[in-house]
Amino acid sequence: QSSFQQALIGNRNMEDTNKFLTKLKGCYFANTQLNLEFLENLDDFEIRDDDVFIITYPKSGTVWFQQILCLIYFEEHRKGIGNLETVERIPFLEYFSREVDFAERPSPRLFTTHIPYYLVPRGLKNKKAKVIYIYRNPKDVMCSYFHFSKKLTASATDNFVEFMNLFLEGEVAGSLWFDHIKGWYEHKNLFNIHFLMYEEMKKDLRGSVLKICKFLGKELSEEDVDAVVRQATFENMKNDPRANYDNKLKAYFGIQKKGHFLRKGTIGDWKNHMTAEQNEKFDMIFQTKMKDIPLKFIWDMN
Ligand code: A3P
Repeated sequence: QSSFQQALIGNRNMEDTNKFLTKLKGCYFANTQLNLEFLENLDDFEIRDDDVFIITYPKSGTVWFQQILCLIYFEEHRKGIGNLETVERIPFLEYFSREVDFAERPSPRLFTTHIPYYLVPRGLKNKKAKVIYIYRNPKDVMCSYFHFSKKLTASATDNFVEFMNLFLEGEVAGSLWFDHIKGWYEHKNLFNIHFLMYEEMKKDLRGSVLKICKFLGKELSEEDVDAVVRQATFENMKNDPRANYDNKLKAYFGIQKKGHFLRKGTIGDWKNHMTAEQNEKFDMIFQTKMKDIPLKFIWDMN
């Protein structure tokens, strides 16, 4: 028995394991409105040269970046005229998308996904469509994920120690964080990809927006960049019904209570969760797994 299965014993039975996660081609997905049929045929999904993909491991700043991209691409979003929510403008490939006709969407199409590199549509490898990979220090990802799954996905456990085991064994939606980021990083030459760090956005939002505009070939006026930055701050997004998923919680997760996607939005919250011993264990695993990956990480605000 894996620890995931063990974690379920006592308060939940084995049938529930399958209620939360589906394993497809070696990767776990949450069962929440999973578009399994689409996922199974993803390889053949037709890519356009001007498509843009936001790719993240869960809890790395996906919703934040959806808002940033909406603000960059859609004037009415920037001006607060349109009411479309970010997830409607930039739908997920694999989640909540059974009703969405991707082929009908006008160019440039924007997408969000958590898929590992090896599941991508073949056409993405012609290096024309753009990929933005947002990553975050994995201790904060783990803590964010712990709260998220406890509240929203009724997943395996509400015990942090158990969750840490699940996270480190990759028995969560998205599978192992290390595999996800390493897979994308080690195969970066196959894609037209830009890596952007959550913490960098946090420390210098304006600079990050400018970098992304450059990658996307978008020229915004100073005033428009100001409007993007202003509406992408944690506080403003928390109060922006287009950007915080609050109106989607019922439809997507079957719950009413709000405020789950924008919980704290800080760097270093792991220090409020992990003991010295847990931290040491995490660091050892991190050092081994990431030794060949020269990506920079920021673990605290200073
Ligand atoms: P916390 O749980 O640490 O607060 P995802 O969108 O990939 O699920 O990631 C969610 C995490 O991104 C949450 O982290 C959330 O608060 C954070 N986040 C969302 N919008 C943000 C913003 N504008 N600034 C900083 N963090 C943000």
